[in-house]
Amino acid sequence: MTTELVVAAETWEADGVIALVLRHPEGADLPPWTAGAHLDLHLPSGRVRQYSLCGHPGNRTEYRIAVLREADGRGGSAEIHDLPLVGRRVTIRGPRNQFELVPSPRYLFIAGGIGVTPILSMISVLSGDVDWRLHYGGRSRKSMAFVDEIEAIGGPRVQIVPEDERGLLDVGSIVASADPSTVIYCCGPQGLIAAVEEARDRLRPELPLRIERFAASSMAVERRRRQEADEVSFVVELRRSRTTLDVPPGRSVLDAIRDVLPGVPSSCEEGYCGSCEVAVVDGVPDHRDEILTEDERRSGRTMFPCVSRALSDRLVLDL
Ligand code: FES
Repeated sequence: MTTELVVAAETWEADGVIALVLRHPEGADLPPWTAGAHLDLHLPSGRVRQYSLCGHPGNRTEYRIAVLREADGRGGSAEIHDLPLVGRRVTIRGPRNQFELVPSPRYLFIAGGIGVTPILSMISVLSGDVDWRLHYGGRSRKSMAFVDEIEAIGGPRVQIVPEDERGLLDVGSIVASADPSTVIYCCGPQGLIAAVEEARDRLRPELPLRIERFAASSMAVERRRRQEADEVSFVVELRRSRTTLDVPPGRSVLDAIRDVLPGVPSSCEEGYCGSCEVAVVDGVPDHRDEILTEDERRSGRTMFPCVSRALSDRLVLDL
C-alpha cells in the first residue's frame, strides 16, 4: 500500500547525515509500525529507496528517517540531500518490518554508522527491566548520528566507539562476552556484519543473530553466480492476474512478472531490501535472498522474485 506524505522538516544530524520528518498532508495518523521497520521512499526521479524508521513507534503523527549521503551510491541519497524537499509531497510504501524485535530477556545491539537507525527505534521501545547493550561504531564522533539521543535513552548501556578515538569495535570480545539468552542484532556496513557473523558462528553459535543489510553480501553474490550455471526453466502462475509465464534460465522471476505487471514493486533487485516480496500460493521456492530466516524459508509462504527461483516445475504467486 502506498501513501502520500509531506516532508515536514529536515535536520542535519551528523556529517553527511540528514533526517527527514514525514507527516500526513491533512494531519491524519500514519499507518502503525513496529521497531526495526523500514519504508520505501519514492523519490521525485522515480528512484525507490529503503530507509529505517528511527522515531518512536508510539508517535503516529510522523515518520522520521535518516539518510547518509553515499558518495559512490546509486544516486538516491544524493538526490535527497540536494533537493529542497521540505514542503514537497512524497510517496511511501510500507512501513514493513523484516528486522523485528523478537521477545527476549536480553539484547546485544551492534551498529555501524547509519545502521544505528533501526536500532534507535528498538532501544526507544524497550522497557526498563529488559537487559540490553548497544555498541555503536563510526568513523568519528561528528559522523555518527543521534549520539546524544541514544546516550539519553541508554546511559551506561551504550558504548559509543568513534574509530578515530577508540579504534574499531572489538566485535570478537563483544560477542564472546554476551550473556546467555541474548539475541544479537546487527546493522551496518558489510565489513561489520561479516565480522559479527564470523564471531557469532565461531564463539557463540547458540545465540540468535538478526541482521539488516544495506547491500548484498559478497557471499550471497558469489553463491548466486555459481547457481546460475544450473538454472532451469519453470512456470509461474500469477493467480490474481490469471496469467502464466515461462521463466527461462538467466531471467529473474521479477523480470518475467514485469511483462504483465510493469509496476510491480522492487528496489535493490539483489535480494536484501524486501521490496519485491510476494506471497506463494503453491509450489516450492528456491530462496536466494538474504532476508528470510531458515524457518521462514521452510514455510515457503513468501519469496523475493528478484533473485529467488523455483525448485518445483510450477510456482503459483499471489499477484
Ligand atoms: S527488490 Fe530488493 S529484495 Fe527484491
